[in-house]
Amino acid sequence: MTVSAISKPHERLAEILFDKMDAVNSLIRTRMTSDHAPRIPEVTAHLVEAGGKRLRPMLTLAAARLFGYTGDHDVRLAATVEFIHTATLLHDDVVDESSQRRGRPSANLLWDNKSSVLVGDYLFSRSFQLMVETGSLRVLDILANASATIAEGEVLQMTAATDLATDESVYLQVVRGKTAALFSAATEVGGVIANAPEPHVQALFDYGDALGIAFQIADDLLDYQGDSKATGKNVGDDFRERKLTLPVIKAVARSTPEERAFWERTIAKGRQEDADLDHALCLLNKHATLDATRADAVAWATKAKTALAPLPDHEIKALLQDIADYVVSRIN
Ligand code: IPE
Ligand code: IPE
Ligand code: MG
Ligand code: MG
Repeated sequence: MTVSAISKPHERLAEILFDKMDAVNSLIRTRMTSDHAPRIPEVTAHLVEAGGKRLRPMLTLAAARLFGYTGDHDVRLAATVEFIHTATLLHDDVVDESSQRRGRPSANLLWDNKSSVLVGDYLFSRSFQLMVETGSLRVLDILANASATIAEGEVLQMTAATDLATDESVYLQVVRGKTAALFSAATEVGGVIANAPEPHVQALFDYGDALGIAFQIADDLLDYQGDSKATGKNVGDDFRERKLTLPVIKAVARSTPEERAFWERTIAKGRQEDADLDHALCLLNKHATLDATRADAVAWATKAKTALAPLPDHEIKALLQDIADYVVSRIN
């Protein structure tokens, strides 16, 4: 396929970075195995063979390419980032009791929670081994901080998600932690390994941060308006899991006393009945909160594009801009 025949920007990026992505994928395959515990390759192969967009490792490679990096540490860092991502997905599906991931039954469903937690830990540890091989303390600092921030975001979400007092600022803190921290670390380490000038490293960080926020807001919106075939996840999961995300936070803020009682019962107390998801969707429509959430996602995508302004002109820069549009195009 020619580059121009591929429409999605992350696919075009994958095409441009073909050799590097190949190297990343083989490194992932080599390092996801274990000589001693057969359950590890079973679980990791299940997840890795299901694909995934490989968006985060591609961002690392793209950032390094943008600054003309010619070494091979970018491949290690990209694999590190994908390992951290995969580890968090294994843990996240246990925490969320999810049954689908990447269009397949989740690992916690196919095996059990113990396997997901322990194999997730293994992948985290493998990611640390990989990043150490770059010999860069700065890169270690960035990725270790991101790992801590992701965990912090997930834990904050755990306590904030069923609390109707959770407002948009707490939501932003959660999303910035659990999702954007890895996007911003992915782009930042790409710039750092390529010795990009400091203002440009900062621009890459800001881009990843805003892109990650736009991405998660879009994901949260898709949970209410998505097509489970396209997303590989079930519609309404967040509601059933009693997770306050932006569309509901906005609806709670605009609720009548009767509506607030509905959210109190279904989200705060978790007493749900069959028709509740439909009623929740009615309330989101009544207050137009899906539209408002979409507007927020688009605003963050715009922020991401603006952050790229100081970076040198390059075909990769244009694709990074397109990726910002792409993450929100999923919800238009
Ligand atoms: C899923 O991320 C987790 C979220 C932050 C919503 P992706 O949608 O990038 O997952 P894969 O890797 O492509 O499956
Ligand atoms: C994704 O969060 C996991 C992390 C970012 C750690 P969610 O729970 O919101 O995403 P999905 O819907 O399971 O992919
Ligand atoms: Mg989840
Ligand atoms: Mg989750």
